[in-house]
Amino acid sequence: MATFSRIVGTGSYLPEKVLTNADLETMVDTTDEWIRTRTGIEQRHIAAEGEHTVDLAEQASVRAMEAAGVTAGDIDLIIVATTTSDQVFPSTACLLQSRLDVHGCPAFDIQAVCTGFVYALSVADKFVQTGTSKCALVVGAETFSRIIDWTDRNTCVLFGDGAGAVVIKADQSPGILSTHLHADGDYAKLLHVPSGVSNNYAAVQEGRAYVEMDGSDVFKMAVRKLGSIVEETLEANGLERSDIDWLIPHQANTRIIHATAKKLQMPLEKVVITVAKQGNTSAASIPLALDTAVRSGDVKAGELLLLEGFGGGFTWGSALIKY
Ligand code: ACO
Repeated sequence: MATFSRIVGTGSYLPEKVLTNADLETMVDTTDEWIRTRTGIEQRHIAAEGEHTVDLAEQASVRAMEAAGVTAGDIDLIIVATTTSDQVFPSTACLLQSRLDVHGCPAFDIQAVCTGFVYALSVADKFVQTGTSKCALVVGAETFSRIIDWTDRNTCVLFGDGAGAVVIKADQSPGILSTHLHADGDYAKLLHVPSGVSNNYAAVQEGRAYVEMDGSDVFKMAVRKLGSIVEETLEANGLERSDIDWLIPHQANTRIIHATAKKLQMPLEKVVITVAKQGNTSAASIPLALDTAVRSGDVKAGELLLLEGFGGGFTWGSALIKY
């Protein structure tokens, strides 16, 4: 009998500090009106000094484990999707493992920027399907504020910090029905931080390794790829658009989300949108949106969820889930 993975608990965490559009008006040449109409974003959360990605990941994980009714001893796999790891090494997943008092199980990070959580969920699902894991913790956590140039109005209005987590368990009934992952590195330069450990490390050391983006090209590709990944997912499962109860997209901005929903003829009431209060939290955005929808009671047991993401790389992907 086939083994599937089921989401049995969700959790999320946002740092206390809120940065509003009015605050940004005092920092760069922008307006609340410009940000709202172009992105739908009203505010974002920013990690405090000394608060790191693992701190956010820990809070979200504890909440997801509580919701799932599991303890440290039950977890046999930890995957953290992040672009903003605390250290060059060890991985944030290893740091998180220690915080949670979990010992011995595999723990590793995945880097696929805004698609990171979908990548991590897909990998964890394969571990469960093959019988290697029975209870996995999958996290998306970011302190994206640390790689933002706060004098660049093209990027600084878009992003925020946060974390989301899910616990998945082996089950005889699905669960995660399918996952679909893609990447095309030819587009790397349209959305990137051009320096890193092996290339211009001085920029990292001096705190000027920042996100650079060609906003309008990213916008067009995001809408195109998110449309095609949804079609691919429906076709793979023999489903119609109307079968989906909830679309849970990466929260980049409301215009991308609305354009994708329109392309799919998906009414906005069936789309989870949290970007107004959280900004774009990269790998954290999908599990944050999922947890928000679960805790508000919107998403109910047995409903069909379509998670989809797009980000730097470019990377894009989806997961179809019976909740
Ligand atoms: N405040 C005021 N003006 C601004 C700001 C700002 N914060 N940022 C840019 N501008 C200016 C530009 O300098 C430019 O001015 P110019 O015409 O004098 O040169 C002008 O606004 C650009 O305006 P538009 O072309 O109308 O901007 P557009 O409608 O393309 O919106 C945006 C820009 C919001 C970045 C859009 O392209 C977008 O959403 N792109 C997707 C980017 C994204 O979401 N990236 C996140 C990572 S990828 C992902 O998560 C999917």
